Amino acid sequence: MSDEKKLCLSGKGVTKVFGVGRRKTVAVDHVDFNFYEGEIISIVGESGSGKTTLAKMLLGLINETEGDIYFQGEKRDIGSHRKKKKYWKSIQAIFQDPFSAYNTFNKIDTVLLDCIRMRGGGRLPHEQKVAMMTEACSFVNLKFAELTNKYPFELSGGQQQRLMIARIFLLKPKILLADEPTSMIDACSRATILDMLMQLRDEIGMTPIFITHDIGLAYYVSDSVYIMEHGRFVESGSADEVILRPKEPYTKRLLNDVPKIYEEWDLSTV
Ligand SMILES: Nc1ncnc2c1ncn2[C@@H]1O[C@H](COP(=O)(O)OP(=O)(O)O)[C@@H](O)[C@H]1O
Ligand SMILES: [Mg+2]
Repeated sequence: MSDEKKLCLSGKGVTKVFGVGRRKTVAVDHVDFNFYEGEIISIVGESGSGKTTLAKMLLGLINETEGDIYFQGEKRDIGSHRKKKKYWKSIQAIFQDPFSAYNTFNKIDTVLLDCIRMRGGGRLPHEQKVAMMTEACSFVNLKFAELTNKYPFELSGGQQQRLMIARIFLLKPKILLADEPTSMIDACSRATILDMLMQLRDEIGMTPIFITHDIGLAYYVSDSVYIMEHGRFVESGSADEVILRPKEPYTKRLLNDVPKIYEEWDLSTV
């Protein structure tokens, strides 16, 4: 990494509390983080540790109860709908359940055309839009001609997941939050999905943030790792530092579940 690392997303004391009184849940508890442009980041923790809640705050889908989030070094301002829409040109997400990402009533064409519109291409000639959609679909090994006039729910889980990545190809966000993106699919397409995301990182300079319970995946893909337990970051640093020389018992426990972490992963056999 060069000396002039640029901050893309950072936070100080970011906290989310759900409910009040005895029903209070502190889902995210005063986390600090510095995510740099071009770095591959993983946030790792068990189910219920607060990963998705943090992702939703980073996206601006829910408000933080306390603390501040900074985008490209400046305090984030997404107070109005217009500012939020502008922010969403820079940060996008793919979620665990691809189906939840789609509005059931929109055909695939609409899903993809919306992405082109968001990037300011709403008035392009129709043929050019079709060419862009065709390119995005072929990037993820889908055929646009076979998808046109269909609904996302008519696709298989793996195809839906790839359609999500086709959206990202069109949207070209600066930051992509991938919340357990590969947990629904088999190991083979998992490698393909990761490969596509890495290719997007190189081609469009996107900073991917992986959110996962799988510390093996985190080691395999990331530069920096943040370990999350009960809403807190208990350990963070370079992937080698955190995973090969863990200090926290929680990190060691997560690593116990991964038998082959020290060996080079051989994706040809998965
Ligand atoms: N909308 C909500 N209302 C109340 N509690 C919530 C809500 N969303 C999440 N939680 C709680 O916050 C904690 C963290 O959840 P979550 O962020 O989904 O964890 P993870 O993604 O790591 O599994 C859990 O205890 C969960 O029950
Ligand atoms: Mg989650």
